[in-house]
Amino acid sequence: MAREWDATTYDSLPLPHERWGQRTLARLELDGTETVLDAGAGTGRDTVALLEAVPDGRVIALDGSEKMLAALLARLADRPDLRDRLTVLRADLTTPLPLREQVDVVFSVATFHWIPDHDALFKNLAAVLRPGGQLVFDCGGHGNIAAVERVLGDLVADRPPVWPFAAAEETADRLAAAGFVGVETSLDPDPTRLDDPATLRRFLETIILGMDLDRLPVDERAGFVNAVAERLPEPVIDYVRLTGTARRAG
Ligand SMILES: C[S@@+](CC[C@H](N)C(=O)[O-])C[C@H]1O[C@@H](n2cnc3c(N)ncnc32)[C@H](O)[C@@H]1O
Repeated sequence: MAREWDATTYDSLPLPHERWGQRTLARLELDGTETVLDAGAGTGRDTVALLEAVPDGRVIALDGSEKMLAALLARLADRPDLRDRLTVLRADLTTPLPLREQVDVVFSVATFHWIPDHDALFKNLAAVLRPGGQLVFDCGGHGNIAAVERVLGDLVADRPPVWPFAAAEETADRLAAAGFVGVETSLDPDPTRLDDPATLRRFLETIILGMDLDRLPVDERAGFVNAVAERLPEPVIDYVRLTGTARRAG
């Protein structure tokens, strides 16, 4: 199963993910009746927007983290109108997905770079998407957080690679091989500046360094986060977003 996330700190941070979610939503073509899979739904910010965008449809919020899904359910506690059309599913995107029926749309923000094997991921997503159904996604792409990775490479000898930051063309080829058509992918720099040192540290710890911190003894983690923050050339997370739109072949 995927690793746990600190959902409370996640939601307290100034997240560029909000912008990425909105622009991924804007690429969907909806008539309001669709069943949408939010793959890597996290604490459910975009799940709520999706439920509002499909008033006669349903949303399946899938994530591997129990804490993120608990925060998602808490977000919807006072929205029984939306909750009724939501299914919450704790599942692992690295394996075939345990969905009972096919969906009309697969939507995903800031998640696919946590999945090492994109060939398998796209095949698994195609298997749960109806013929003609839409896939829209955002994730870290080639060159994403290169400055952070340089610092990590300096700090950790023989650090194993964590993220498969893929290029646009290879992703388009993978999607075609997995049975998608009308594929459009692009790669766009989107640096995020975090001038407040405490916010930069919390952001690194919660959003970026989880896999690296999991490998360290608990009492060394805060020092490691400080060392990464101090060594960055400027207080900037040098994001590069890989975005994609495709339909499953009919
Ligand atoms: C950066 S968060 C993005 C969450 C949300 N989409 C957003 O934009 O705020 C990445 C999410 O991917 C989930 N995730 C990572 N690897 C996963 C896996 N193998 N299976 C399922 N979920 C996974 C994490 O639990 C986390 O909630």
